Amino acid sequence: MAFSPQFLDDVKNRTSLAEIVGKRVKLVKKGHEYSGLCPFHNEKTPSFTLNEDKGFYHCFGCQSHGSAFDFVMETEGLGFREAVEKLAFEAGMEIPDETPEQRERERKKQTLYEVTEPAAAYFEKMLYMPEGRGALDYLTSRGLDRATLKTFRVGYSPDTRGSLKTALLRETISEEQMISAGLLIKPTEDRGRGMDSYDRFRSRVMFPIWDRRGRVIAFGGRIIGSGEPKYLNSPETPLFHKGRELYGLHLAGPAARQAATVLVTEGYMDVIALYQAGFHHAVAPLGTAMTEDQIRLLWKIVPEPVLCFDGDRAGQAAAGKAAVRALPLLKPGIGIRFATLPASEDPDSLIKNKGARAMQEVVDAAVPLSEALWRMETGGRLPDTPEDKAALQQRLADHARAIQDPTVRNHFSKAFNERVSPAPRSGSARGQNRWQPGRGKPWGRGPTWASNVHMETAAGPAAKVNMIKRRDEILIATLINHPELYDNVSERLGTIGFSLPELDKIRQEVLKTLAAKSGLETEPLINHLNQCGYSAVLRSLLGAGVYDHAYFARPDALLEEAEAGWYETFDQIRSRDLIAEIEEAERDVAENPSEETWRRLLALKQQKINEAMDEQA
Ligand code: UTP
Ligand code: MN
Repeated sequence: MAFSPQFLDDVKNRTSLAEIVGKRVKLVKKGHEYSGLCPFHNEKTPSFTLNEDKGFYHCFGCQSHGSAFDFVMETEGLGFREAVEKLAFEAGMEIPDETPEQRERERKKQTLYEVTEPAAAYFEKMLYMPEGRGALDYLTSRGLDRATLKTFRVGYSPDTRGSLKTALLRETISEEQMISAGLLIKPTEDRGRGMDSYDRFRSRVMFPIWDRRGRVIAFGGRIIGSGEPKYLNSPETPLFHKGRELYGLHLAGPAARQAATVLVTEGYMDVIALYQAGFHHAVAPLGTAMTEDQIRLLWKIVPEPVLCFDGDRAGQAAAGKAAVRALPLLKPGIGIRFATLPASEDPDSLIKNKGARAMQEVVDAAVPLSEALWRMETGGRLPDTPEDKAALQQRLADHARAIQDPTVRNHFSKAFNERVSPAPRSGSARGQNRWQPGRGKPWGRGPTWASNVHMETAAGPAAKVNMIKRRDEILIATLINHPELYDNVSERLGTIGFSLPELDKIRQEVLKTLAAKSGLETEPLINHLNQCGYSAVLRSLLGAGVYDHAYFARPDALLEEAEAGWYETFDQIRSRDLIAEIEEAERDVAENPSEETWRRLLALKQQKINEAMDEQA
């Protein structure tokens, strides 16, 4: 049963994070913060910090962070529910009642762990018995050493109809429980009516599947040698939903946080071989395409997981599918990288044939999602004909549109457009004035065209609101009067948080219209906007109020003036926006300390640093 947000807040408010953490970490107080040696990774100088007011801890070394609940979950291996209950109990609070059905469902689930765990122990034991000899030899011939087999609790299911059943019955585990846990097959009414239930896994190498907390929830069974089906997996059970789990996650978590990355491969054997070769931060989905749940799960651990796919056609199709699935979920600061293995190799075979170095090189060469999509759609080269270019641009635009986050969406569509139709690099004044990422701003030095933007002198909160609105208006007005700026400014215009909804709407419309029709001129653009019902907004946008503050916004200003003025105004807004966003993100973290809010805060701070460095460059 889910706890109410109110109850969770109460527990947090009555709990001292410093006290809880203080039981495990020697904390030193510095103002509002505490610091100490991180309990989640080995370190000699403290990078673990804790803010009592915000109820949040963060380690700058291994990036682990969270609330009191997270801390208890991580350090004591408890689930969310148990952690909440523990802290509530310690705070002397009553735990709200569950309904009888909820209690019953939870109880049944709990008892299933008492089936899967002894089953794992049984299979593991059998691997080292005489009947497991063939399986053990097979695993050894594939290069797995004893320590690795132990780490992954690899086992063997004997070649009989009921050896597991008999063994577990002896431990007073009931037949029904074994059926619910997916370990026995009960013949159905029409097929084999009246026949006894029998072991699902027979004569297979057994890989236990854990949940993220390390409890056994299911199994994958591999045939020894070749044959069909190669793998047999547990069915969906109350414990096991294959689309929501990742094989190896409980082992990979700490290593992934430390390495700040996690490798996603295709199979059990890949995860195990990677582990043995020193890549402890690998996981695999369970024989299906990556689901949204799995992508989100990965992002809870690191901001940029690396997907390793085969270089062959099937692998590339799987990569494409994962990329498309991730698009709507993208947020600033999180993404996916794609590593491509040589054709007909998986990580297991690559390590065996070429060594761990080769694997590392594959990982290092991983490309971001935008690049993966580009390669998927172009096959690596631009089409020659305008027709094919248009079709390509359309497909890429469709991908970009699937992104829900406006900032990320704008960056993608701008990057795609620029790649399909690169802007001239030199020659025209406009070309020289083009901003390029990481280069600083060419217009930063020399004459400031926008120096007559005298708005700073206004004082008082009302004036400030006015000034903010005015700057937003200036950007839109300048673009309407100089639509040729679109290519260079659209991306940036899209990233600004606008002060007024009606300005936001007209901005969207302007961007959309110019995106759809390149070369559109001012007059038809204004006609279109009037038709869309923006007449009133337009009158104030294209009026004295704006022009008096920014002459470069006028229709008769020179293009260079318009561009320089636009950028200068944008920069002013940008620094305002970023500071406001950081403040907002800090409030979010305080109110709702979660992976997501933290990550956003860190990403914004990073952005601020980048911009400051750009400024200096
Ligand atoms: P692979 O065929 O790549 O298996 O399938 P693998 O893990 O590399 O194993 P080896 O090296 O052949 O021994 C990738 C994953 O797809 C699922 C399994 O989860 C497997 O790890 N799969 C594959 C099945 O569920 N059933 C199958 O019959 C085959
Ligand atoms: Mn393989």
